[in-house]
Amino acid sequence: MRLEENNLMTKNILICGGTGLLGPIAGNVLSGQFSVRIHGKSKKADCQGNLISYAETEALLNKEMPDVILNLVALTNVDTCEEDLQLAYNLNVEIPKNLALWCKKNKSLLIQISTDHIYNSAYASEEDVNLVNNYALTKLAGEASVLMVDGMVLRTNFFGRSQTEGRVSFSDWVLKSLKAREPVNLFKDVFFNPLSMKTLSELLAVVINSPHPGVYNLGSREGLSKEDFARTLGDMAGLQHHFAKSVSFADLDLKAARPLDMRMNVEKFELTFEVTLPTLKSEIEGILTSEI
Ligand SMILES: NC(=O)c1ccc[n+]([C@@H]2O[C@H](COP(=O)([O-])OP(=O)(O)OC[C@H]3O[C@@H](n4cnc5c(N)ncnc54)[C@H](OP(=O)(O)O)[C@@H]3O)[C@@H](O)[C@H]2O)c1
Repeated sequence: MRLEENNLMTKNILICGGTGLLGPIAGNVLSGQFSVRIHGKSKKADCQGNLISYAETEALLNKEMPDVILNLVALTNVDTCEEDLQLAYNLNVEIPKNLALWCKKNKSLLIQISTDHIYNSAYASEEDVNLVNNYALTKLAGEASVLMVDGMVLRTNFFGRSQTEGRVSFSDWVLKSLKAREPVNLFKDVFFNPLSMKTLSELLAVVINSPHPGVYNLGSREGLSKEDFARTLGDMAGLQHHFAKSVSFADLDLKAARPLDMRMNVEKFELTFEVTLPTLKSEIEGILTSEI
């Protein structure tokens, strides 16, 4: 089934890179409404392939024939992106380009998950890009081919309970550290406005049902510093956190530069898709009460 033939029929969604952190939660939520298949590279999945090669990508997609591709493949390790620009380019730029090429030929919709890491100012709008490292540079470059085929780019960040062995979210790390009473460093001067993976996945269903091509910031309404996020999560989970250290980003010596303020202005998404996004505090509460 192609998209324009019959929108009332169930859409086939292929989640590329669905074996990572976000993929299992997105797959779980979206399978309530759509026919969902999960792609992975090294981990077992409904289908597998190295999407750096266009020939391999084309063969896999010709078999799957998705109406919608949700691309979650990325090199997300910021320090590895700094050390190996070629690998970052292959995963963050070449793969979206390969998927876009196939989508153009087959009239499928491409949804690319991008990042808040391309910003560095309070409540940045979509045009306020400020790149400080290779991860940001390659993720932004990867967006171009998606937009050229009328796809959707969602710049976001997320947290929540990981269902993937070997992948830990920021909130998983906070809860584990506080439970173990470790004197971890919490940044008082790094700000963000992520969504829980569950809410983000529910919003993916909204955009799949009513696509509007373009680039959108997708986060919670009111952000927090990473320190306030961690202490709020600790309070809501009934965990002590006085032993965690309040530090400045400048106190640490990391390989790659990081943006200090990744808070996004989310008005364009709210107006276009006619939704009111939740606050970060309500999202933190949500991960403690939700099943996923
Ligand atoms: N994690 C975050 O906190 C965060 C924040 C903001 C934005 N994002 C964005 O959100 C998206 C999803 O992130 P995530 O954390 O869920 O990713 P992730 O856990 O790093 O997963 C990456 C996925 O890419 C697949 N992959 C790796 N190399 C591949 C290749 N050559 N060909 C095909 N597939 C390949 C992996 O497959 P295997 O595991 O099977 O090998 C895995 O499914 C990314 O676009 C990321 O930039 C993430």
